[in-house]
Amino acid sequence: MPDLRGLPKHAGPVADPEANAAWRALPQAERDKVSGVFANLGKAIAAYERRIEPGPSRFDAYVEAAVAGDGAKMQATLSRDEVAGLKLFLGKAQCVQCHAGPLFTNNEFHNTGVPAARGLPADSGRLAGARQVLQDEFNCLGPFSDARPQQCGEIRFLAADNAVQMRQFRVPSLRNVAQRAPYMHAGQFATLREVVEHYNRAPAAPQGHGELQPLGLSAGEVGQLVAFLGALSGPVQADSRWLQSPSP
Ligand code: HEC
Repeated sequence: MPDLRGLPKHAGPVADPEANAAWRALPQAERDKVSGVFANLGKAIAAYERRIEPGPSRFDAYVEAAVAGDGAKMQATLSRDEVAGLKLFLGKAQCVQCHAGPLFTNNEFHNTGVPAARGLPADSGRLAGARQVLQDEFNCLGPFSDARPQQCGEIRFLAADNAVQMRQFRVPSLRNVAQRAPYMHAGQFATLREVVEHYNRAPAAPQGHGELQPLGLSAGEVGQLVAFLGALSGPVQADSRWLQSPSP
């Protein structure tokens, strides 16, 4: 911690006019000290979050049994409905197009026609986010970053004002998804059934280009997909490797 004595009680580059005026009245060197503390808090939280890993789920046990050719273990691990849901996830429902890989995300941004959240300001998703992150002095290329510029590919090649980004949101991991209702970027859906019914209907996007097509799933198939999503939960673990070697 730098020496922060003598700073005003409330000061920051924020909307509140008093705090904002107090911030602008501070010498640059004082502002840099405060921003350094702010950046370090963010880094500490990010370092903690990087250590959190979802532990093995019943789905993982099923995959292991399948790889080992152990049919009895497979049957004992997932129910018929869960297996049917897995097949839909990979096939007819095409969830795997975006929810792929060990974390069930392609780490991309997509517009899936999620309705606007009632009572919140309009949200243009990645369109606004890209602009914000490019302007932010706390970004990967900024003065508080520990990364080398070559490590900031996402920002160096990020297009701002690309209309395709309108209401695109990050594809979240589906691990432990059954334990974290409500769903979507502003909690628009209360249950996994509502989520799957949304994909099944594929309504027009409130803004921008929605990427979904109606799936034509029966009520039973919706239930099977929901059952499968319930098999992706495992204990949340903090990976201790991160404790031994500080990240770059
Ligand atoms: C075109 C890409 C795409 C496809 C296909 C897709 N998803 Fe998603 N999924 C997303 C995005 C993007 C979000 C986040 C949307 C948001 O936050 O508004 C999301 C969110 C979710 C969530 C909410 C997770 C959370 O923590 O809030 C669930 C559950 C989910 N998807 C399940 C599915 C299932 C099941 C299917 C197949 C029927 C599917 N997805 C198909 C892109 C996709």
